[in-house]
Amino acid sequence: LPPLRVAVLGCGTVGGEVVRLLLAQADDFTARIGRPLELVGIAVRRAGKERPGIDPALFTTDAQTLVSRTDIDLVIEVIGGIEPARTLILTALASGASVVTANKALLAEDGATLYDAAERAGADLYYEAAVAGAIPIVRPLRESLVGDEVTAVIGILNGTTNFILDKMDTEGAGFAEALADAQELGYAEADPTADVEGFDAAAKAAILSSLAFHSRVGIGDVHREGITEVTAADIASAREMGCVVKLLAICQLSDGGRPDGTGPGRTVSVRVHPAMIPRSHPLAGVGGAYNAVFVESRFAGRLMFYGPGAGGSPTASAVLGDLVTVARNRVRGASGPGESSYAQRVVTGIGDV
Ligand code: NDP
Ligand code: HSE
Repeated sequence: LPPLRVAVLGCGTVGGEVVRLLLAQADDFTARIGRPLELVGIAVRRAGKERPGIDPALFTTDAQTLVSRTDIDLVIEVIGGIEPARTLILTALASGASVVTANKALLAEDGATLYDAAERAGADLYYEAAVAGAIPIVRPLRESLVGDEVTAVIGILNGTTNFILDKMDTEGAGFAEALADAQELGYAEADPTADVEGFDAAAKAAILSSLAFHSRVGIGDVHREGITEVTAADIASAREMGCVVKLLAICQLSDGGRPDGTGPGRTVSVRVHPAMIPRSHPLAGVGGAYNAVFVESRFAGRLMFYGPGAGGSPTASAVLGDLVTVARNRVRGASGPGESSYAQRVVTGIGDV
């Protein structure tokens, strides 16, 4: 059977692991998909950089030409940021490929453009790795719970800040030292301001809220506060009160009509900020770069998702799960769920709780 051709954009912390694990599991993937995958190119910024275990002939600095090829079936975008990632994804979709991305910043900034482009092209756009690393949370909200009514999504969505707060609490580490460790371990964004100022968690909260509440929520709709103002003294006082400080994302669907009283409706509120929580609370025990997400829904009740929220290998697991799924869809000539139609809802940064 002819192979499905794969291009990878980016070969850093996540992309490097994706490529290595893809090559190592080639035979298993052939069996799971029903056709082999052929890696045809990897776009990077520095083609000459040594990347152990990967054929140097695969690298190119011309990502645009790579994604313009109409013989490529699947494109994995793990460059990050808004541009050139957005143009590359749009070109890949227009050229007939399905796309897997880990790019929460782009999805929260301009997801609608990408979802619409995928819909028009009849291609898949999958993004499990964009939220909470290895934890399956996008697919449960996008597919498994789509017959329910989700009313709240609450959790720890950023591994770097959880790692920093945990190290400050348990080891008395300083903020700068803990951040440097998180960067060294590959948890932080290329610009760690996105982590410590709460932009990354806000982007993830916007993505989850859009899926959970069938509403278009962008990063600009999220009330955001990071952890840069959290001091060692704050952590010590929390400790004295039997609490820990965590950066929480709180996404809620509220009843009660629109705030301006113009008519019936439901309000979506999304916020990210540090919060003190009792040490007995299940979220208090989420340490290191782990994430946890609670989902409350009308019929299922309360669900909890927990696991590694950042890092090369956990994130590569989520990317490859999407890759196998979109490859299977291609083989069957089918496509995945797409985005559901969106309700008209008032979106506010501050909730009623
Ligand atoms: P890195 O900074 O480690 O890697 C980025 C890669 O993109 C590098 O290989 C770089 O090339 C390449 N690149 C940068 N600019 C260009 C360009 N203009 N054209 C072609 N290639 C380019 O980032 P990460 O791997 O950490 O993150 C990638 C994505 O995954 C981001 O969207 C991030 O938010 C997301 N993510 C990251 C997680 C993590 O734990 N790190 C977890 C979940 C999601 P070169 O190597 O030559 O510099
Ligand atoms: N920088 C992100 C984090 C990577 O620390 O959670 C995972 O999305």
